[in-house]
Amino acid sequence: MPRPGLDHQLSIDRRLPTGYLAASLRVDVARGLTATPKWLPPRWLYDARGSALFDRITRLPGYYLSSAEREILAATAPEIAAITAADTLIELGSGSSAKTRSLLDALDAAGTLGRYVPVDVSEGALLDAGTALIRDYPRLHVHAVLADFTAGLGGLPAGGRRLVAFFGSTYGNLTPVERAGLLAELRRALAIGDGFLLGIDLIKDPALLVSAYDDPAGITAEFNRNVLYVLNRELGADFRPDAFRYQVRWNPQLERIETWLHAEGAQSVVVRHLALAVDFADGEALRTAISTKFHRAGVQAELERAEFRTTRWWTDRAERFALVLAVPTAG
Ligand code: TRP
Repeated sequence: MPRPGLDHQLSIDRRLPTGYLAASLRVDVARGLTATPKWLPPRWLYDARGSALFDRITRLPGYYLSSAEREILAATAPEIAAITAADTLIELGSGSSAKTRSLLDALDAAGTLGRYVPVDVSEGALLDAGTALIRDYPRLHVHAVLADFTAGLGGLPAGGRRLVAFFGSTYGNLTPVERAGLLAELRRALAIGDGFLLGIDLIKDPALLVSAYDDPAGITAEFNRNVLYVLNRELGADFRPDAFRYQVRWNPQLERIETWLHAEGAQSVVVRHLALAVDFADGEALRTAISTKFHRAGVQAELERAEFRTTRWWTDRAERFALVLAVPTAG
């Protein structure tokens, strides 16, 4: 008999091989800093300091994405619970699980909720979020999975009626190839009867998009510079973060926001653990993130190519952000 109490209510399934994150950071940095233009994948922005800065971004007046997604969730969670009747809520890149609560509340009220499966690469975030959740939801089982969802979804629990949530427009931070790969993995992991809930940011006036990714107090700039601190600490690099100026661009061809750090003055950086010297010309830019924006038809087409059918499409009142409910199709 399992003992009631914390051990029984909260478990962590560690699916990151030892040294996995360190090794993938090295691969990403070696590839990105020797490319033209230079770039780094946005996932490395989120160490403890980066996550705290991002948390402040979500409360900035110009960064409408979080409040818009929350508005949609608050209005639609009961409907989502009724349609999906999910007993297992899986969340990719769960972080603090803050947004998830309205959905957990609705599934709990509908009487179907049994288990919450947050998937994240941060064990600290999983433990903090899991501990808080089991305190507030005494009947909930939290089965946390320490894993990199961009590297496969083989470890997701099977059985029951599962709803996979992917919030925060993180989908848009992936390249088209990465998005197709993730959807293919997800389709393999899911069965008919499961659901997929996806939060995406919509194409709108570029001025509004750009101002969501910059703020007068410079919090967003510092969030982006944070990746340079991460490289200094983790890879023995000697970036001078203050010597990089932050810039946001709307790329109309690729329909995405791009965030860049420009070298102020020519500089030479050494990444000691990679025995790599990297030269920046004056003004040369390093891309720290992409954030793709969508039209409804574009997302639906991506989902359809991966054998998902859109069953519901909700937006906030101002139609800035969308929450898409999709189901696997037989193919
Ligand atoms: N998923 C968030 C987004 O695309 C990530 C993000 C928020 C971000 N603010 C940022 C990425 C600023 C880079 C720069 O909106």
